[in-house]
Amino acid sequence: MRHLAAGVCVITTSAHGGGRFGLTATAVCSVSADPPTLLVCLNNSTTTCKEILESGRFAVNVLAGHDQEIAQVFASPLPPEERFNTGVWDVLETGSPVLNSAVAGFDCLVKDVVQVATHRIILGDIQALRCAGADVSPLLYARGNYGGFLAAESIPLRTTHGSLANLHSAEEAQFLEDGLHWGLF
Ligand SMILES: Cc1cc2nc3c(=O)[nH]c(=O)nc-3n(C[C@H](O)[C@H](O)[C@H](O)COP(=O)(O)O)c2cc1C
Repeated sequence: MRHLAAGVCVITTSAHGGGRFGLTATAVCSVSADPPTLLVCLNNSTTTCKEILESGRFAVNVLAGHDQEIAQVFASPLPPEERFNTGVWDVLETGSPVLNSAVAGFDCLVKDVVQVATHRIILGDIQALRCAGADVSPLLYARGNYGGFLAAESIPLRTTHGSLANLHSAEEAQFLEDGLHWGLF
């Protein structure tokens, strides 16, 4: 899994009694277009997970390449409200914080929650959406680092022939196995 690039999001909520909460997450996935549904996978032990279960609402902010500092702040031990000092935040329909500079913001009501081991899979009914222009690229995370897309023509092509056993390194074999498993190629 560590070889796969993932989009970086900040999942937020606001408590009914006041207070904003949010964390950085890569475990986010689209589920259905009709009705518009997505899911996030949050560790039970996070403050944000507990607050979302309480408030019944959350927003998924898909970070842009220029939002790396926001990703770092929302994965840090800073107190929840202080994290929102970085970035410009707004609300759409549910009252969950939506980031102005993000590639996209999905404002959701909690539809269902599934507990799996240490995590909760939280399904969201999308109530409102905000998108940046197509020229804004997403922030990616892979191998413990943040990054972005390269233009296809700037990536040197490397072809390996034969079976997995002929691959040059364990790393290459793992990369191929991950890609096949996740349907990337
Ligand atoms: C790149 C990256 C991706 C992360 N993805 C997730 C995730 O998908 N789910 C999750 O529960 N935590 C994830 N985390 C960890 C949380 O961001 C981190 O534990 C956060 O400080 C929790 O904050 P809270 O307890 O205030 O809610 C990720 C961290 C990083 C740096």
